[in-house]
Amino acid sequence: MNYTHGERFRATSDQTEAICHDSAPLMILAGAGTGKTTTLLYRFIYLIENLGIKPEHILAITYTERAAQELTDRLVKKIGEQVRDATITTFHSFCYSLDTLLRLCRRQNPHKEGNQFYREPSNTNLFDN
Ligand SMILES: Nc1ncnc2c1ncn2[C@@H]1O[C@H](COP(=O)(O)OP(=O)(O)OP(=O)(O)O)[C@@H](O)[C@H]1O
Ligand SMILES: [Mg+2]
Repeated sequence: MNYTHGERFRATSDQTEAICHDSAPLMILAGAGTGKTTTLLYRFIYLIENLGIKPEHILAITYTERAAQELTDRLVKKIGEQVRDATITTFHSFCYSLDTLLRLCRRQNPHKEGNQFYREPSNTNLFDN
């Protein structure tokens, strides 16, 4: 049976397979305008509504700010403000946040024995900047 959401959306069988896929990694490859973003949107909703995953535990990454904003706006329209607890952002913004966090952790815990969180070999750079 195909996935539906309310009265307005009925997924195709391929979309249903992707939306309801088990939690393992999944890659969607399809032509322009065939419904990839729509599939991603309803997969996001499916994780929350059908699998009980909290929005704050979902990360969605896009290439452009515009795509991130569009995804957020479409999700808010469908399932409300809870979506704002999720992280929907661009690759650049997410990596920048991660870099800032790691720098903060290193500064606050300078090479303390047993700290697994930030420890890395001394000849390794995590980011090239
Ligand atoms: N199952 C469906 N039933 C009806 N309309 C659908 C369905 N899936 C997608 N659409 C509609 O098809 C259009 C294109 O969908 P979408 O934007 O998700 O495609 P896309 O593959 O992400 O496109 P692009 O390649 O431009 O990024 C949208 O108007 C969307 O609402
Ligand atoms: Mg798209």
